[in-house]
Amino acid sequence: MKSIIVFASGAGSNFSNIVQYAKTNNAFSIALLVVNKEDAPVILLAKEQAIPVLLLNKEVFNSSEWIATLAAYRPSLIVLAGFLWKLPENLVTAFAGKIINIHPSLLPKHGGKGMYGMRVHNAVKEANEKETGITIHYVNEHYDEGAIIMQEKTAINAIDAPEEIAKKVQELEHHFLPITIHSLLK
Ligand code: GAR
Repeated sequence: MKSIIVFASGAGSNFSNIVQYAKTNNAFSIALLVVNKEDAPVILLAKEQAIPVLLLNKEVFNSSEWIATLAAYRPSLIVLAGFLWKLPENLVTAFAGKIINIHPSLLPKHGGKGMYGMRVHNAVKEANEKETGITIHYVNEHYDEGAIIMQEKTAINAIDAPEEIAKKVQELEHHFLPITIHSLLK
């Protein structure tokens, strides 16, 4: 069975959802969770599922010393699901074409450094967008600029608060991220 590595640093709803999809569909295994925050709730979710966790500080993250550790898991794909650090070039090169990210807007709109989570939805609201959505894309060494794999849209009503926009986007993420991972692995 093919395996993936997930990088995350937040609540972990996407991580959890990927794990459930993989189990239910006997689709792939999650070999490792990489995190950069010791108090990230996603760590507990991984432990509940007996998935190994690798917690990294920025110094180690930006070095090349841990790339061999990742490679030893022989991942078919590395999935960034709410991971906010820019990947160093040596990591991107080591796993060229095998790293994907999910971003909660229709890139190139509302992406780039510092654009994550509610900041994105607040910006979408401020810009009076009529629609928003998700983007799943390959990762290169620039924030949110790799080739787009898929996008899915959702309409915004004028009365929608940023929290409602976030909920609509999260529903899309939970539906489309696992199936996109699965189809990339086929
Ligand atoms: C997701 O909405 C993901 O798109 C976003 O972080 C959230 C993580 O939620 N990623 C970015 O904003 C990347 N720029 P989760 O921890 O509940 O999966």
